[in-house]
Amino acid sequence: MPYKITLIPGDGIGPEVTRAAVRIVEATGLKFEWESFQAGAEAYEKYHEYIPKELIESVERTHVALKGPVTTPVGGGFSSINVALRKKFDLFANFRPISNLPHIPTRYPDVDLIIVRENTESLYSGLEHEVVPGVVESLKIITEKASTRIAKFAFEYARKNGRKKVHAIHKANIMKLSDGLFLRCARNVAKDFPEVTYAEHIVDNTCMQLVMNPYQYDILVMENLYGDIISDLCAAFVGGLGFVPSANLGEHCAIFEAVHGSAPDIAGKNLANPTAVIRSAQLMLRHLGELEAEAKIKNALERVYRTKEKLTRDVGGSAGTSEFADSVIEAMEQGT
Ligand code: NAI
Repeated sequence: MPYKITLIPGDGIGPEVTRAAVRIVEATGLKFEWESFQAGAEAYEKYHEYIPKELIESVERTHVALKGPVTTPVGGGFSSINVALRKKFDLFANFRPISNLPHIPTRYPDVDLIIVRENTESLYSGLEHEVVPGVVESLKIITEKASTRIAKFAFEYARKNGRKKVHAIHKANIMKLSDGLFLRCARNVAKDFPEVTYAEHIVDNTCMQLVMNPYQYDILVMENLYGDIISDLCAAFVGGLGFVPSANLGEHCAIFEAVHGSAPDIAGKNLANPTAVIRSAQLMLRHLGELEAEAKIKNALERVYRTKEKLTRDVGGSAGTSEFADSVIEAMEQGT
């Protein structure tokens, strides 16, 4: 039976990078049936909905989606499709592993960090209003339920995967109630995992500590906004935004996507590095239990980076998105 997967190509560089990932996933030999839907501005033109109901129904049916980035207008316009999808399917855990591929010039070799970002609340609740002209209020929502759930996710992942340390990242010195609650929940959960070292760092200090010495961290768990910002910072350790995958995980559904956005500056030019979405597809295969197929892609990607023949422009090469995908498929066919 083929796997039924919802495909959301997205916009900007989304269609280019997801096309590359789909070709590579299919080259593993597994069979897939893709149910493809637009979202965001393009979907609105066609369906008069930013998230068509057909897309929602598809994810409810398949439980798994591979997604490209979707543009969110800045300072006005419609709300983020990404945030809406995460809320709709209660994809509470945003799992973002940060690790190097061979031969990418970076300041730090062998980085191996995991960012666990709470995905459904904080300032991303979208509760903003104008109090009086010239004064706006944006509400940061932190709940015991969501904070406990994300801390449990981080500790359970640590236990299952032999990871040693979990840091809760916060700003409870200033946001005493909201981040204070987040920390209390993390501390409570930590008590049930005595084999995992628990520590707390304030978010601004964390940025400095990461840049000075990323090896001091193992798993970092945090609320939504800090997770968004710190993920981009950590992407710089491993070659940039073209390299970091993510899994948005809930009880019933999962959406896999790159950490990066729609990169309008390079969209439609066959310049984007598809590695981040390919690595997101690897996470999807792991989620489906297809470890052999995942390993095939991992080995092929490593070979392409080791030989350095077909690299994309962001890492000093001249290959296009599709050529890069060709070379990963070729490496897979050679069984490396
Ligand atoms: P961005 O991640 O799209 O781009 C930042 C910089 O990184 C740009 O210079 C871009 O060219 C480069 N870059 C990103 N991905 C790359 C890749 N795969 N290969 C080579 N270079 C790459 O961030 P930006 O410009 O802040 O956001 C653009 C749009 O994307 C916004 O509308 C934002 O809301 C949206 N966005 C969507 C996300 C999603 O759908 N999950 C996540 C982040 C942003």
